[in-house]
Amino acid sequence: MVTSRIAATGAGIPDQIITNDDLAKIMDTSDEWIRQRTGIGERHISGGEDLSYYTSKAAKQIIERAGIAPADIELIVVATVTADYCTPSAACMVQKEIGAVNAVAFDVTAACSGFLYGVSVADKFIRCGIYKNALVIGGEILSKIVDWKDRSTCVLFGDGAAGVLLERSESAGGILVEELGSKGEDYEVLTARRLAPANVFNKLEPQKECGHVTMDGRAVFKFATKKIVSGVEHVLETAGLSAEDITYFVPHQANARIVEVAAKKLKIPQERFYVNIEHYGNTSAASIPIALNEMNEKGLLHKGDKLILCGFGGGLTWGTLLVQW
Ligand code: ACO
Repeated sequence: MVTSRIAATGAGIPDQIITNDDLAKIMDTSDEWIRQRTGIGERHISGGEDLSYYTSKAAKQIIERAGIAPADIELIVVATVTADYCTPSAACMVQKEIGAVNAVAFDVTAACSGFLYGVSVADKFIRCGIYKNALVIGGEILSKIVDWKDRSTCVLFGDGAAGVLLERSESAGGILVEELGSKGEDYEVLTARRLAPANVFNKLEPQKECGHVTMDGRAVFKFATKKIVSGVEHVLETAGLSAEDITYFVPHQANARIVEVAAKKLKIPQERFYVNIEHYGNTSAASIPIALNEMNEKGLLHKGDKLILCGFGGGLTWGTLLVQW
């Protein structure tokens, strides 16, 4: 059977670290408030570089670790809501930067679930025999779309990029089970970057532009905990596994309290959930690959380990993947 397996990971993270105390110097907030409500202690914020700089940095690290020539990459998928341009795609910019001249490149947009959607799409191309490998990167420069005057949202987010190389494999393992879902009905719970149709022939009342992140925090909290629980239960049942068979659960890093509540509901010890939000904040589509890359660099992942990756975010969208390392 043909499957796709993760062959390498890599990341491109801004060097600049902004602590909660740094934020408290420019707005009415405190380290205590942010830590208690979210688990965030600091985040990496771009010093001016745009997304393509960090996604390309991640891509270079991944291909170097995989030992693959750029010209041999067949597909590049970038998951993001903060690309440098509406067009070209973030993926085409990575293609140029790394010289992957033979790749097909495009973006997917599913907010914080985006990386898992990207992996799912790339996995299908590989399973169908169309491509033999794919670079899948999640990256965000959220600092350019948060409202730095809104303390209830801007303290939550960070910048960065990370990803994986997926490769065709004929041995057991790789991406085993997935569950993706969307509920456009509730899109207003979490929005950013509304572009109003401001043309000179517009006959309607001018609509409001909104570049910033807007969020009903409590609604997101409820949605997120529910989707982690149902996603984990679903993939475990589909695979005929129990929680004990899973080495690590790797959730989207939106808020440490969301993970605490979900772990409790699932009756899974919280230590089995990998959480690094303290050092990155919420990096949306980048959060799961940043966590995976960090785990990989720490030597926490061994051949055969089973991981459950769970994402949830704007759209609303969600996704859960069972992956064998
Ligand atoms: N510092 C100090 N005080 C603050 C701050 C801040 N940064 N932000 C808000 N406050 C104040 C508010 O003004 C309010 O004050 P008031 O009671 O005097 O009016 C008080 O703190 C409580 O504000 P709430 O918004 O009700 O705070 P809540 O307890 O709901 O926590 C939070 C907010 C952390 C966002 C919470 O709703 C939450 O965890 N939501 C989950 C959503 C999430 O984490 N989203 C991340 C992005 S989305 C995603 O990734 C899918």
